[in-house]
Amino acid sequence: MGITGKKIAVVGGCGHVGLPLGVKFALAGAQVSLVDISAEAVKSINGGTFPFLENGGDRELQEALRRGLRATTDAKEVANCEVVVFVTGTPVDEHLNPKLSEVLKILDFYQPYFRQDALIVMRSTLFPGTMEHIYNRLRDRNANVRLTFCPERVSQGYALEEIDSLPQIISVFDEPSFDAAYEVFAAIAPKIIRLRPIEAEMTKLMANAWRYLEFAIANQFYMIAEANGVDFHRLYEAIRYEDPRAKGYKAPGFAAGPCLFKDTMQLASFFDNQFYLGHSAMLVNEGLATFAVEKATKELGGSVWGKTIGLLGMAFKPNNDDTRESLSFKVKKVLEFRGAEVVYTDPYVAGGISLDEFRKTCDAVIVCTPHSEYKGLEFTQPVVDVWGFYYKSSLEIFPGALGEEKSAKVANA
Ligand SMILES: NC(=O)c1ccc[n+]([C@@H]2O[C@H](COP(=O)([O-])OP(=O)(O)OC[C@H]3O[C@@H](n4cnc5c(N)ncnc54)[C@H](O)[C@@H]3O)[C@@H](O)[C@H]2O)c1
Repeated sequence: MGITGKKIAVVGGCGHVGLPLGVKFALAGAQVSLVDISAEAVKSINGGTFPFLENGGDRELQEALRRGLRATTDAKEVANCEVVVFVTGTPVDEHLNPKLSEVLKILDFYQPYFRQDALIVMRSTLFPGTMEHIYNRLRDRNANVRLTFCPERVSQGYALEEIDSLPQIISVFDEPSFDAAYEVFAAIAPKIIRLRPIEAEMTKLMANAWRYLEFAIANQFYMIAEANGVDFHRLYEAIRYEDPRAKGYKAPGFAAGPCLFKDTMQLASFFDNQFYLGHSAMLVNEGLATFAVEKATKELGGSVWGKTIGLLGMAFKPNNDDTRESLSFKVKKVLEFRGAEVVYTDPYVAGGISLDEFRKTCDAVIVCTPHSEYKGLEFTQPVVDVWGFYYKSSLEIFPGALGEEKSAKVANA
């Protein structure tokens, strides 16, 4: 067993999912080719630099390069490989339905290069039933390749860390495919979970939709409280104060990025748009952006026309440089439509102004992405802070007669 010397191609291998995975395969001994259409990313990777922010990225990449990993734009590279991993995604269209044609188009393009005995690994999130479609399509074309769906589950920016610790899911239609996939993924994972393809497809969507819903609950409660003149962050502190059951209660904040919204909509589409919680979560999470604009408008006396509004952070999540589907851009658009001048600052995103200039120029600030660099800042202008990033504990706590031992029992009740 093992993957030492095994030739693995990762198609879309210069992206957030493909690159960390390719690095891990290379560190486990495989000969890895990252095949991608982005010449810029290929150049950066071959030069030893991650093209995006990934914790510990460059160090592991440089070691992988020493062990033979290479990035290329040459699709023919796939022809030499025993394993071909596809990480390019399934976008949703203007009706919020998945664009399956995108997945099939890429497979069709690379299929002429597949070796007869290749293992084809689908890695990006798939709409339920896609694997069966791909399986039948390959069978109709007498392609005797082996096929598996092993969904990526990492959180962006922490992939290298999480690949080492998360169990990998392998889903297959037949035993030879399982054996081949097991050999590859057991080499980089602590444990393997075996599922049927339809189960793996739904598992991934439900994991992401669940997270999206968790954020939506916090965001809805935030809006209920704030619309009634109550500081939600005080409630949040009270709800969680020494109650272990409330530990996992998510804080409000902009829920965005390339996966959660898209995958919740895919699940809704799969269930004939009867996933009411999913659609509600979308309305709440997307609505928080306009709610923040309304708050800023109120702070400025009812109109933002001619005012300069500063957006603190543009990335879709803190301490990250990824702006895909970031709600900061929605806030920007709405403000501009209402006649405001919008400026932004972000240490990870190009094009903004410096923090010093930002602090001098704005009439009001909206905290869009609470990067750690912004901790402890004080502003002279009104600040809209849906995250509670600048909230200072304000609960009044008094001692009670019962000791800690008794209150600990509550945790187990
Ligand atoms: N980003 C995450 O943290 C994450 C986590 C779990 C699952 N996913 C899934 O993985 C999918 C990919 O996400 P990502 O964040 O890696 O996207 P990404 O945009 O960072 O990477 C995709 C890569 O594919 C390349 N590409 C596009 N078309 C290509 C083609 N025809 N041939 C070769 N390369 C091509 C792009 O240049 C890019 O480098 C998502 O759609 C999602 O379903 C993402």
